Amino acid sequence: MNTNTSTNRKDFLPLMGTDFVELYVGNAKQAAYYYQKAWGFEPVAYKGLETGSKDSVSYVLQQDKIRLVLTSPLKPDGDINAHINRHGDGVKTIALWVDDAAKSWKETTARGAKSYLEPKTLQDENGEAVISGIHTYGETVHLFVERKNYRGPFLPGYKKWTAPTASKPVGLKYIDHMVGNVGWNEMNQWCEFYAKVMGFEQLVSFDDKDISTEYTALMSKVMSNGNGRVKFPINEPAEGRKKSQIEEYIDFYNGAGVQHIAVATDNIIETVTQLKHNGVEFLYVPESYYDTVLQRVGEIDEDLAPLKELGILIDRDDEGYLLQLFTKPVLDRPTMFFEIIQRKGAKSFGKGNFKALFEAIEREQESRGTL
Ligand code: FE2
Repeated sequence: MNTNTSTNRKDFLPLMGTDFVELYVGNAKQAAYYYQKAWGFEPVAYKGLETGSKDSVSYVLQQDKIRLVLTSPLKPDGDINAHINRHGDGVKTIALWVDDAAKSWKETTARGAKSYLEPKTLQDENGEAVISGIHTYGETVHLFVERKNYRGPFLPGYKKWTAPTASKPVGLKYIDHMVGNVGWNEMNQWCEFYAKVMGFEQLVSFDDKDISTEYTALMSKVMSNGNGRVKFPINEPAEGRKKSQIEEYIDFYNGAGVQHIAVATDNIIETVTQLKHNGVEFLYVPESYYDTVLQRVGEIDEDLAPLKELGILIDRDDEGYLLQLFTKPVLDRPTMFFEIIQRKGAKSFGKGNFKALFEAIEREQESRGTL
């Protein structure tokens, strides 16, 4: 039996999951409306001028375990403006839920992480929370959030927020993984960061022979924490005859950053039907994909017809199969997008779909003149 050393070694950074994902955006009020109406997130908490926050405004939205924070600046200058100016809208913070934020900061900075925020206790009438943070790739940061002594809607400083009209959840459950794009020859460096500084282990690696089409290529490694609740694949561009989608991202984002957030559902057909109805746009896969897919993946529980109609992709590994689909970028720049994933035993990432998927992305790149 293969005894994994990580199960024997004490995890110095126990993570209970992703606490929230914060995006810096140009207009948080309108972005909040989009995530409510198109994606079915429900309003949770707010801070802004009315709560005494004079420099920035934040809306917190939630669907099952997925929590998004949308933040905009209220004044010129400052870090949020600089971030938006450089990157456009995008993910600033991947916050991780921990039992001890001070210890998490100490353990990671002692192993070489650059501090973003020293442990800080926040308080209000609902109790106290401790947050701390470290830098990761690009201008992205990880916050460690300790909330065991807090009972408010989100964090101290936020008040409960209700929207004028109700949202209709689309069945999204939790964040399955979040992918970072880094520059040429930087993938190994960042995988080593997650291994050394955060105690993650490499689950799987794909080279440019796995992930290439006639024209473009990339490389990817998947890093996971000890209990598997937090998985970060890291991509870097690879040489091809035309421009890698990762390079296109890096060009428009002006550096490394979060490429996609994969969100899990228990019923991908219903979820994607709803999202499409709400106006979310997905990558298009040619119908010919479905001519041979069942020969590749074998028997599945679902009828093929609705999968084909919605363009949902299928892949199988030793442990089961998965269904997945990717949106077009959800911002004006061709940067961040979402993946919808339903796992039926499979623990992998859809390697069998890479070619069809990347050809679909190339068609989009071509339409943008960036292939
Ligand atoms: Fe993914």
